[in-house]
Amino acid sequence: MATSVAGESRAQFSSKIGFILAAAGSAVGLGNIWGFPTQAASNGGGAFLLIYLFMVFLLGYPLLVAELAIGRYSQANPIKSSGAIMPKGLAGSGRALAVVGLITASCILSFYAILAGWLLGFFISPLLEIVGFTEAATWLETFSTGRNLLLMGLFMAATIYIVKSGVAEGIERWSTRLMPVLVVLFLVLIAYIMTQSGAMAGLKMFLVPDFSQVDSGMIHSAMGQAFFSLSLGACTMMVYGSYLRKDADLPKTAGQVALIDTGIAFIAGLLIMPAMFVAQNNGVKIFDEAGNLESSGDLVFEVLPAMFETMGGAGLLVSIIFFALMVIAALTSSISLLEVPVSTASEELNLPRSTSSWLIGGVISVLSVAIIFNFGWLFDAVIVASTEYAQPILGVVFALLVGWVWKRDGLLSELRQGAPEMETSLFWKIWPWYVRVVCPAMLLFVFLS
Ligand code: PHE
Repeated sequence: MATSVAGESRAQFSSKIGFILAAAGSAVGLGNIWGFPTQAASNGGGAFLLIYLFMVFLLGYPLLVAELAIGRYSQANPIKSSGAIMPKGLAGSGRALAVVGLITASCILSFYAILAGWLLGFFISPLLEIVGFTEAATWLETFSTGRNLLLMGLFMAATIYIVKSGVAEGIERWSTRLMPVLVVLFLVLIAYIMTQSGAMAGLKMFLVPDFSQVDSGMIHSAMGQAFFSLSLGACTMMVYGSYLRKDADLPKTAGQVALIDTGIAFIAGLLIMPAMFVAQNNGVKIFDEAGNLESSGDLVFEVLPAMFETMGGAGLLVSIIFFALMVIAALTSSISLLEVPVSTASEELNLPRSTSSWLIGGVISVLSVAIIFNFGWLFDAVIVASTEYAQPILGVVFALLVGWVWKRDGLLSELRQGAPEMETSLFWKIWPWYVRVVCPAMLLFVFLS
């Protein structure tokens, strides 16, 4: 059962570019467009950007190659994949790790759907306003249990619908269509915001680092942000790797995904940091006297709609475009999260894909409902537990498996399939010991400091 764990009939991404767009679609989401700019804004802008880049390329990227390699090696679901790279006696513990990954992915989706639901609300609200349903529009933008339930349900239903259609049909087609739209929409909005007065101050904060802001807390945030943004440590990249063709060059593909992900976070920063200052220029209070963000977590949900309002007639249109873009980005991530338990259940329990999609989507929705009814404490708790602890720890544990447990020849022959020159490459000289020693040491350092 070592080399090819799954049968011939397993689905695959039909093209390399399709895979890259799908994997980048998973990576690009609320993490880049909401998380990154907010964190950059509250952590000194340029300095956070630099440390984040360091974390993405020197910690996240090597781990991304590791997770993709595990998945593609066995071409099977995470449970089989993690079992397959372990020596015979330890296969059970490999599978147990994957179960932790499945639970992590499910927990992430349970809060992600709530957050993405709000974006959906801000997208639908101006549409309702245009047709005269002002009260409904306001209701959609105001925090309430009813609104949270409705919007989460809608977002989850859309996620389930896409996932149930399968890999090439659903995920690949949607990601290939939606990702380029996202980039174009961003560029249009950046061009718009740069014409507004105040934008330059935001640009300066984002691009000129202020190193006095660097401390251990900020480094920890940057690390968590990198794991969340690259979709690491939740078996997502393992599953996507399992659909990747054997002739794809893993280090190169992972590099492209990391570049796209980071590029979009950077572009999001280029939009949102200037947008904050434009809003401030228009009388919206963004920073307090001490220069701290007035509302960090809800920056997007409070400050941006306020900014769109001050833009006059165009604001309505801009806000529709902006939130459409956010929902699109969130969908290509949420489908990758749901794909993790769905593909596993379909294969392990022999369930039809549509059954497992509705079943597991349903269970995760119940989790989301529980969070909504206990919002005050549970929302943050689930976010912290899954993204600040489970993801980094699991990501590094997978790296340890690849570095210490997986036989070196097996690993090499897996990577060589898409890159015949691998053995003599610089990558192969550095990467194996790097994921063995440097990545775990970096994680330990961040946790301890
Ligand atoms: N990377 C996604 C984002 O930035 C979130 C995500 C995390 C997706 C983990 C899959 C797995 O929004």
